[in-house]
Amino acid sequence: MFLPRLIACSAALFAASALAAPDPHSYANADQVSVRALALDLDVDFAKRQLAGSAELTLDWHDQAARELVLDTRDLTIDKVEALDGGAVRTVKHRLDVRDPILGSALHIELDKPATAVRIRYRTAPTASGLQWMTPAQTAGKKQPFMYSQSEAIHARSWVPLQDTPAVRFTYSAHVKVPKALRAVMSANNDAKHALDGDFRFTMEQPIPSYLLAIAAGDLAVRETGPRSAVYAEPSMVDKAAQEFADTEAMIAATEKLYGPYRWGRYDILVLPPSFPYGGMENPRMTFATPTVIVGDKSLTALVAHELAHSWSGNLVTNASWAHMWLNEGFTSYVENRIVEAVYGKAQADEEFILAADELRGELATTDPADQRLVPDLTGRSGDDAGSDFAYTKGAWLLRTLEAKFGRDAFDAYLRGYFDHFAFQSITTQQMLDYLAPNLLDKYPGKMSLAEVKAWIEQPGIPADAAVPASPRLAAIAAARAEWLAGTRKPADVGAKDWNTQEWMYFLDGLPEKVAPAALTAFDAAWHLTGHANAEIARRWYLVSIRSGYAPARTAMAEYMTRIGRRYLVVPLYEALAQTPDGLKFARSVYAKAKPGYHPITQASIEKVLARAGAKAA
Ligand code: BES
Ligand code: ZN
Repeated sequence: MFLPRLIACSAALFAASALAAPDPHSYANADQVSVRALALDLDVDFAKRQLAGSAELTLDWHDQAARELVLDTRDLTIDKVEALDGGAVRTVKHRLDVRDPILGSALHIELDKPATAVRIRYRTAPTASGLQWMTPAQTAGKKQPFMYSQSEAIHARSWVPLQDTPAVRFTYSAHVKVPKALRAVMSANNDAKHALDGDFRFTMEQPIPSYLLAIAAGDLAVRETGPRSAVYAEPSMVDKAAQEFADTEAMIAATEKLYGPYRWGRYDILVLPPSFPYGGMENPRMTFATPTVIVGDKSLTALVAHELAHSWSGNLVTNASWAHMWLNEGFTSYVENRIVEAVYGKAQADEEFILAADELRGELATTDPADQRLVPDLTGRSGDDAGSDFAYTKGAWLLRTLEAKFGRDAFDAYLRGYFDHFAFQSITTQQMLDYLAPNLLDKYPGKMSLAEVKAWIEQPGIPADAAVPASPRLAAIAAARAEWLAGTRKPADVGAKDWNTQEWMYFLDGLPEKVAPAALTAFDAAWHLTGHANAEIARRWYLVSIRSGYAPARTAMAEYMTRIGRRYLVVPLYEALAQTPDGLKFARSVYAKAKPGYHPITQASIEKVLARAGAKAA
């Protein structure tokens, strides 16, 4: 019934078609009224670990009969809500629902007539799920505190009351006050030359979904890496970061050549403390990144390629809800690999794809078949659960397969057209398919049918038509590994002196479940993997150490788990440790020390692992 009305006001930023599948992770009544602009006015209070101030939401009413605005919040204190109409300001009634453990509390705002805007005065909780507050002692510089946000998937609601669904896009402005000497940054127009006077203003003129709202404040220095790129980091890290990310402009240029102009102006990178729960987050105009990819040889800069790729897949063409996350992450992982190929060559790109594909194959045995589909059912689950290897790697693999079947020229032109067609919209998988059929499948008949594409999306597993590259270098490493395991090759002779990061990862990923501790001792003596500075290599070494009961790795492992909070690096270690009573005990003792340094998102993941293991043991 409401559909025709929505189509009638299609000028609004709200994606009408996203209505077909309402977002189960939001309470917002966005079909009736949607936010078109947000104005934030916030004080960053480190002593209270609190953001306090106001959010003004400018509204588009799709249903003139509607009298309620429902917003998402989690652990916010709402002090007052006002309706704004022209110059008139009136206080209006509001009510917060009981807190749902996943979704938070719906904020109901009662309006006697459709208002132009509402202003909400509010404060965040010190435990806000989307913020990490760090003491000076927890930073590299030890002198200033640090805070940063992570909004994806559904954590923006823990620091701003809003329609926390990717189906709604809005522009924003912000006035942010921080202690003098600190620099505030946002997913907006940062000014590297801004005085450190405690008073910052930002605007984001392109409409974005809520999960791309981002803020950080700390002792941040800036180094240019190109004409439209720079790195922001704590002063002791900034030069190293600028060297590592020196290829940023080459990556932007390569992506533009493939998919058209970069539409966001600048592309800066903020290097966060090692507690950042993700590898990277594609906050528009300023990617947030883990320092664990700064290893000195640019070998892990696919992370930049990935977050940059989101400037097309995700930030421009956005998943309408988290079940469709593969439209963000699968497309991005595909584009990431194309950027790596353009900047570092095909051999490097193929190695990276093979690593991801092998990891995905490893997940098949332990992943519920229903979750091996590209569009999982997330009802009753947190939005963060959508980010599986299936969304990333199986999604990318489907696009790779399309590329192989239709040829690069046709597929590149198609994908560029897709980004242009859906630019600044939030879409579902059905909309993607409705565009794919006439613009690629039917245009070049006989190459791949809609049914074959749908099999990738709807069936578990990896279809037999999956295109796989070969890597002679990785094949040679597999052979050396087999000989070492068979005892016919000494550790010193495996040839690892010339291995790059991915080749080390491949070697370690392919080790059996258990290796004799004596063999690991000899290997460690030859290659010094315990305490290895490269966190990807160390992670894999610690995993095999845990599975094999190789105790000498433990001290360095505990240090690693305490220093780093990136979920992908530490959660698997907790999971592996939790398999044995002694390991679980060790994991608990490490967690007790590490917890205060972890972001709430990482804390939640680890507590889930430890609780599940505890329940099993009991
Ligand atoms: N958007 C994701 C991070 C994310 C996903 C946050 C789901 C919250 C929920 C980001 O672009 C990403 O994929 N990061 C990866 C980088 C890697 C694939 C290069 C990560 O964090 O490991
Ligand atoms: Zn991503």
